[in-house]
Amino acid sequence: MNILILGQGGREHALAYVISKSKLVNKLFVAKGNAGIKQYATIVDLNPFDNKAIMKFSIVYEIDLIIPGSELYLANGIADYFQGSNISVFGPTKKAAQIETSKAFAKEIMKKYDIPTAEYQIFDNYNDALNYLDANKIPIVIKYDGLAAGKGVVVATTKDEAVIALKMMLEDKKYGDGSVIIEEFLEGEEFSLMAFVHDEIVIPMPIAQDHKRLLDNDLGPNTGGMGVYCPVPIITQESVDYAVLNVMKKAAKGLVKENCNFTGFLYGGLIQTVDGPKVIEFNARFGDPEAEVILPKLKTDFLEIINNLLHSCVKKIEWDDDYYLGVVLASKGYPNKYSINHKIVGTNKTDSLIFHMGTKIYKNELLSSGGRVLLVTGKGKTIEEAKENAYINVSNIECDNLIYRTDIGAKSVKK
Ligand SMILES: Nc1ncnc2c1ncn2[C@@H]1O[C@H](COP(=O)(O)OP(=O)(O)OP(=O)(O)O)[C@@H](O)[C@H]1O
Ligand SMILES: [Mg+2]
Repeated sequence: MNILILGQGGREHALAYVISKSKLVNKLFVAKGNAGIKQYATIVDLNPFDNKAIMKFSIVYEIDLIIPGSELYLANGIADYFQGSNISVFGPTKKAAQIETSKAFAKEIMKKYDIPTAEYQIFDNYNDALNYLDANKIPIVIKYDGLAAGKGVVVATTKDEAVIALKMMLEDKKYGDGSVIIEEFLEGEEFSLMAFVHDEIVIPMPIAQDHKRLLDNDLGPNTGGMGVYCPVPIITQESVDYAVLNVMKKAAKGLVKENCNFTGFLYGGLIQTVDGPKVIEFNARFGDPEAEVILPKLKTDFLEIINNLLHSCVKKIEWDDDYYLGVVLASKGYPNKYSINHKIVGTNKTDSLIFHMGTKIYKNELLSSGGRVLLVTGKGKTIEEAKENAYINVSNIECDNLIYRTDIGAKSVKK
């Protein structure tokens, strides 16, 4: 098989890594890739938003399967564009991708198919939203309906914060003309549950826990994720089994009933409340940084899984027993203003997996080129061992402009 991955971050690096190990792979291309992905794939200077150019490239290079990394390509209709061609896309159509691209759509699906989630209401009108706010307690969560680059969610701990968020979204229309969801604040441990999905077939993966906040002890602004580990000892198997059944399978079935069948990676952003697991959100693509600690655990051939699934045939999938923990090294100033082109050394000092998130090569030097730059992994028979190995590997990396959290995995590490 000839494969094309769309994207340039750590998730795409992890996908390239597992695909490069497949016995089914012939040629592997990544658009636009990064300095680390070069190890496993041919980097192509193809615009991942230009579906016509991707079609032309795919015909010339006899591509069999396209894997879009980011939700942006899904919202841009890559799967729709290739429908009816003999080139498969492992990612949902625009309609099915609404499970991520429209939080209002996702909430309505959850209500209709009895999927546990936070109480909510949808608003287009600022004054109605303010009245609802008056009638509900703080903390409360305000979410913009459409894609907002991870910035469309405000967890308001004061009424003022909530009013400011509503004004920004409904009056100033900072993110566009979309609606706003006001939802109940849920308390508990968050975890990510990914699954390979094709119509009603749902194949769950081991769960992971991301660390969204910039600083230790979950302080500071929300980011794309500063670290992650897999599996997650503080979440019981019973909770995971419940979530697979009552969240992932119900969602896939519901989307089929709504005539927007989902094919691709379905990502359940869940929270373990006192009343059991509930949905914070769905994403319609693999998580980043979750991919970097889940995919290395896979023992079954990745392309075999996708191939079988696209032919609606399911075989048992095997995962190793190890724990994987990943620490994100980010540019100083991320998620706000940061500088790039800082020299990085030491990535070759370890045989552990280091996934590149924002790097480039210039005059034979590895340079930073993004907010999140590297994800350094460690693995072990216990979460403690994986954490220790990860931070040993982090200590080998030298760069004058990178920061990282020191407490990744702390919630699951025995005191
Ligand atoms: N109802 C809720 N109760 C408590 N915390 C919440 C709630 N909804 C969202 N959050 C917090 O806000 C974060 C971001 O929310 P959400 O995942 O819906 O947004 P997103 O922008 O789609 O995120 P992502 O970039 O991961 O896709 C969550 O990880 C969680 O920490
Ligand atoms: Mg999301």
